[in-house]
Amino acid sequence: MSNILVTGGAGYIGSVTARELARAGYRVVVIDNLSKGHREALPEGVTFVEGDIGDVSLIKKLVWSYDVDRVIHFAAYSLVGESFEKPELYFENNLIKGVRLIGACVESGVRHFVLSSTAAVYGDPLEIPIPESHPLTPKNPYGFSKLGLEDVLRSYSQTHGLNVAFLRYFNAAGAASGGMIGEDHAPETHLIPIIFQTALKKREKVYVFGGDYDTPDGTAIRDYIHVQDLARAHILVLEAMENGLPHEAYNLGVGRGYSVLEVLTEAQEACGLTIPYEIVGRRVGDPPVLVADNRRFTREFDWQPEYGNLRDILVSAWQWHRVHPDGYGNGESHGAI
Ligand SMILES: NC(=O)c1ccc[n+]([C@@H]2O[C@H](COP(=O)([O-])OP(=O)(O)OC[C@H]3O[C@@H](n4cnc5c(N)ncnc54)[C@H](O)[C@@H]3O)[C@@H](O)[C@H]2O)c1
Repeated sequence: MSNILVTGGAGYIGSVTARELARAGYRVVVIDNLSKGHREALPEGVTFVEGDIGDVSLIKKLVWSYDVDRVIHFAAYSLVGESFEKPELYFENNLIKGVRLIGACVESGVRHFVLSSTAAVYGDPLEIPIPESHPLTPKNPYGFSKLGLEDVLRSYSQTHGLNVAFLRYFNAAGAASGGMIGEDHAPETHLIPIIFQTALKKREKVYVFGGDYDTPDGTAIRDYIHVQDLARAHILVLEAMENGLPHEAYNLGVGRGYSVLEVLTEAQEACGLTIPYEIVGRRVGDPPVLVADNRRFTREFDWQPEYGNLRDILVSAWQWHRVHPDGYGNGESHGAI
């Protein structure tokens, strides 16, 4: 079996996917500069190289020395708010370094390339659920940086026959490995970790951005997909790429949305604690509803999320936060090499 290079494999989704790949028998090489990731999140059985995706000679060396023929590219900055404040940081880290990475991979013989893309490439949805054919009109530099990489890959696919897949995730959530690998971003901007940090009294309250959207309870609606389901989806895509994929882009979501207040209510039930919150003004650029039309993926890959309902996702996230109230700062190691 060929080797897989996983960029950003010390991060949240990358570490869970690297672990699933290793379990499925793939030989996995992770590259991560640990700017956001955690050494403790690295699973057993993977080779870890601390380095930057923009380092062309390192990438070529890794591809040659580990005989890599496929890449899953998770490494990126992904804070929408920060991308408004520092667009150059996002274009540099996500787009320019991403282009260097892709070029180095193609030059050294990589044949398959999977990109972590995002619902942010769609911008404000014109229809719900959002199909892959929706116009691609990002509304923030983060979304533009990801769409830029999709275009670069499309071009390499035409000119060099690179097999490409863009997996457009909606909201990743939950924890893996019985709650031992979970979400630990700094700063944390994702709703579910913020809710449980508040339950654990690490925060005073949850700020709910916008209570006046045109939704049943006035709060924004999002599609939450469990990180383990995401990881499994990547393996299905990698396996299918060998024979060519009918499409380049696939939405990864469960196809059902929950409002912020619904998530809060379910989270209180999942952890048995009261979670204070306050509704404040909307955040710039937050669409009222983001829900995936996931039918392309579910049909082509005969895939259904194992964590199809919100409660299961929240219970799994709570397992992680309860035991790791300070994230990986607790110093627990899970077999990093
Ligand atoms: N978390 C979500 O809900 C979500 C939704 C849509 C898309 N995505 C995308 O999925 C991917 C993974 O997201 P995540 O939540 O796991 O993020 P994360 O921040 O936990 O992981 C990203 C990893 O990439 C590493 N990294 C960043 N820049 C690097 C560089 N130049 N060189 C080497 N390593 C670098 C970081 O150290 C980190 O370990 C990202 O590309 C993100 O844009 C995430």
